[in-house]
Amino acid sequence: MSLLLTTKLTKHFGENRAVDGVDFAVREGQVLALIGSNGAGKTSLVNLISGLLRADSGQIQFRGVDVTAESVHGRIRAGIARSFQLVNLFDQLTCLDNVALSIFAREGKARKLFSLARRYRGIWEEAAEVLHRFGLDGKARMLAGGIAQGERKLLDVAVAYALHPRLLFLDEPTSGVSTREKAPIMDTISSIVRSQGITAVIIEHDMDIVFNYSDRIVCMHQGTILAEGTPDEIRRNESVTTTLIGTPAS
Ligand SMILES: Nc1ncnc2c1ncn2[C@@H]1O[C@H](COP(=O)(O)OP(=O)(O)OP(=O)(O)O)[C@@H](O)[C@H]1O
Ligand SMILES: [Mg+2]
Repeated sequence: MSLLLTTKLTKHFGENRAVDGVDFAVREGQVLALIGSNGAGKTSLVNLISGLLRADSGQIQFRGVDVTAESVHGRIRAGIARSFQLVNLFDQLTCLDNVALSIFAREGKARKLFSLARRYRGIWEEAAEVLHRFGLDGKARMLAGGIAQGERKLLDVAVAYALHPRLLFLDEPTSGVSTREKAPIMDTISSIVRSQGITAVIIEHDMDIVFNYSDRIVCMHQGTILAEGTPDEIRRNESVTTTLIGTPAS
């Protein structure tokens, strides 16, 4: 059974068919890459699934339950979390505070955060563990706005990871970082999600990353799913290569 299943999911912005009748399925335990050229609808699809956008029509089922009308928080409670194409951090808070805030939100304590924060020692310990897992221990006391771009991308993933998701969407986790930094970031993310049994959907433009780290690939084009398959099937799919790079790949 699919962990996540969308049925005819649709979101138009005026004439723009950002997401147009999409049937998207994610199996438990997979690392799935969501690819497609700029404007294909990838982020919009993730925004619909995570609840940041309301669908015009269609359904979203998560673990067999219809979550189409659920709030963002309801979906987080159900086990859906995501990171952002442009990182979504509190730059004036430390890295440790950013992760702790996410854990407080998960525990339903966010509203009282600053009056109660110091009492919840376990949360700070957990936040420190999360930073350690992501190789960011040395940055705990630094402001999120003051660390390197690659570290910010990892911190944004760590904030989503701290919500204890079963399904984690990563919207371009290596965008804006140098080619040299991409593989170490993906190695960190991949080993965490695989060792924790988290199902992950990674939006990525770098095809080396896509082929190296995913079990399955879904390619979007103009709001619809153009193709899906294993990395080998997608590599051989002429409509995908033509769409992505303009000519059939050699
Ligand atoms: N809030 C919005 N209002 C109007 N149009 C939007 C909005 N969000 C997205 N769009 C449009 O919907 C289409 C899909 O955008 P989306 O951001 O989902 O693409 P994407 O596949 O994530 O692209 P990229 O690879 O560049 O991030 C684009 O044409 C975009 O301009
Ligand atoms: Mg996008």
